[in-house]
Amino acid sequence: MKDCSNTYVYLCGVIAIIGIISTSYFYLQSEEQKTNIESLRQDRNLFLNQTKQKDSQLLVASTTIDELTSQLSDLKDDLEDLADDYRDERNRNEDFEDQIRSLSGTLGDLDKLAKTDKELLQKYSKVYFLNENYIPERVSKIDDKYIQDGKPDQYFHARAIDHLEDMLKAAKRDDIDLKIVSAYRSFDEQTSLKGQFTQVYGTGANTFSADQGYSEHQLGTTIDLTVDSVNGTYGSFADTEAYEWLLDNAYKYGFILSYPEGNEFYVYEPWHWRFVGTDLARDLHRGKDTFYELDQRKINEYLLDFFD
Ligand code: DAL
Ligand code: ZN
Repeated sequence: MKDCSNTYVYLCGVIAIIGIISTSYFYLQSEEQKTNIESLRQDRNLFLNQTKQKDSQLLVASTTIDELTSQLSDLKDDLEDLADDYRDERNRNEDFEDQIRSLSGTLGDLDKLAKTDKELLQKYSKVYFLNENYIPERVSKIDDKYIQDGKPDQYFHARAIDHLEDMLKAAKRDDIDLKIVSAYRSFDEQTSLKGQFTQVYGTGANTFSADQGYSEHQLGTTIDLTVDSVNGTYGSFADTEAYEWLLDNAYKYGFILSYPEGNEFYVYEPWHWRFVGTDLARDLHRGKDTFYELDQRKINEYLLDFFD
């Protein structure tokens, strides 16, 4: 009986100890959980606070972005206005430059025209009298190789002699050996020549020789051409290959036939060629009118580019 009660006490003691340990354990557990919960609550509060702070920072940032966007848009508008102003200014400058260019072109043309002798495109054939004191601006000696034997020292207008020599060279390349019988003749030379012709032919000389002051030769831009087989200024020159060549090519170098068949001033003069500038010679070659049939005002339009 005593053993039995001891066991019982022992068991009760064990149970009590287990109870105390369990209670302590659960108590401690619950305390720890409380501490954890408190800590979590604090963490949550901290998180909420931080979130609030971030929200307010975000709000400030978003306001700043809106302001910056608006400033950027204003800046873009300003830039576009500036670009428009720049374009307008540039257009105005370009217009101004065009006006200056056109004005200086006009001034250049006027200057060029003022420096070009107006007589060079006048009709000198019993129509228009050239002052007896008239001499060309400047003449140059023509290379002797182009001059017919016995007719030395021939001169041509210095500003047109390149055109003449180009034509003579081109003819030579085509085996046409053109020779110059006569080129520039002064007023006095024409007086003397006409006098000699008149002595021989009387008034008949008027059909092929101009009076002094009426000859194109006084301009320095006219030549009489021949070939050795003709040897002078004769109508038979019209039957030569050289003449055919001139009819086909002389205009390219600015030369025209002044007195073709049927002209109202002189006999047919296939040898007599006058420089009138390449533009006019080309247009006369293409058209149906001869130089003397063209209106003088129309002819004068070609003066600007006469020597080009
Ligand atoms: N033979 C031409 C017409 C002159 O003398 O000018
Ligand atoms: Zn002549």
